[in-house]
Amino acid sequence: MKKILIKNIKQLIQVETTPKEKVVGKEMATLNTIENAWLAIEGDRIIAFGAMDNWGGITDWSNLEVIDASDKVVMPTFCDSHTHIVFAATRESEFVDRINGLTYEEIAAKGGGILNSAKKLQAASENELFDAALHRINEVISTGTGAIEIKSGYGLTVESELKMLRVIKRLKAACPITIKATFLGAHALPTTFKENRNGYIDSIINEMLPIIEEENLADYIDVFCEKNYFTPEETERIIQAGIKQGLTPKIHVNQFNSIGGIQVGVKNNALSVDHLEVMTEQDIKDLANSSTMPTLLPSCSFFLNIPYAPARELINNNLPVCLATDYNPGSTPSGNMPFVLSLACIKLRMTPEEAINAATINGAYAMNLSNELGSIAVGKKANLIITKVIPSFQHIPYAFGSNPVETVILNGEKVSF
Ligand code: NIG
Ligand code: FE
Repeated sequence: MKKILIKNIKQLIQVETTPKEKVVGKEMATLNTIENAWLAIEGDRIIAFGAMDNWGGITDWSNLEVIDASDKVVMPTFCDSHTHIVFAATRESEFVDRINGLTYEEIAAKGGGILNSAKKLQAASENELFDAALHRINEVISTGTGAIEIKSGYGLTVESELKMLRVIKRLKAACPITIKATFLGAHALPTTFKENRNGYIDSIINEMLPIIEEENLADYIDVFCEKNYFTPEETERIIQAGIKQGLTPKIHVNQFNSIGGIQVGVKNNALSVDHLEVMTEQDIKDLANSSTMPTLLPSCSFFLNIPYAPARELINNNLPVCLATDYNPGSTPSGNMPFVLSLACIKLRMTPEEAINAATINGAYAMNLSNELGSIAVGKKANLIITKVIPSFQHIPYAFGSNPVETVILNGEKVSF
């Protein structure tokens, strides 16, 4: 079996001897680090690691590639648990509209936004969507992403939602990165159902979900629970139908308004509630003592110029925080996790340790992948980043806009990008 030994690692970060599924509250301030370290990979797994003055773990030196990581940091790849990376076209004209004073909501009200993306996606072929998404996935791998969640939600018809999910299924098979699929049929109300909200929800539940189950097209179910999109009652009806078909909820809530989405998520054991730019004290209380992961998307706040989520309050209330990109053509045209880390530190006032925990092990939790990914632990999948020469891991969020990643190893293999 092929082996890789990485030696002279300046800092090996996010190491675990007793793996945890997530880190919570104050624990997030600790990032276990070994200075001057080595790490061994066999096949697709991490088999051993330690300090350079404590050699061990490797007995068979045959078929071994040695990588010298002097002055470099080694860490687990990022787990980006919230993206909409399958789409047909970018939306620069809305970007310009916003510069000229329109809001995201105003653009959506005049037929832009999600409905604009749906029109383009409905006209695109499965192959076109696949090729464009593959290109974007290669780009996010180059900035250190090793696992990604991808949502549907730009189809908004039976045929086009299934087309999106089939593209995601093909990406799962074709890409070295771990992919989870989320069905977001309830992303926006299509114009054809403008006067018949229940008709569209019935179509999601009675037409789309059964085929999704039959073809095994999704792991999760999502709803955009927001004013002018879907109410908390509608959200609950849709996610409960998804749960019946074996899908776990992961939902968009509290992006512009706090309308009860958190409570619906917690009550229905959502794996995560995502966005949280607008949070009440009650929302934070209701999240405490739940197993639902609060997921923050600061590059969406950056791009739309909307408030940032209250990360410090969440952490101070002993909650975990997860960070993801939200990569999509409307609110976040970027899948760059190092930039998300920078925003987390600069705008959310998270420390580099907290931000890295949020983007690795807590991201893994938000995709049910903590047993495989999200930390450096013996037996976990060898999905690793080797950085360029940098002084310390704090340099990663500090040097915003530059790519700290030199080498990415996925499933124990160096990938080119
Ligand atoms: O997470 N908020 C809902 N959905 C996406 C944006 C979708 C779009 O504008 O195309 C988000 O920000
Ligand atoms: Fe989103």
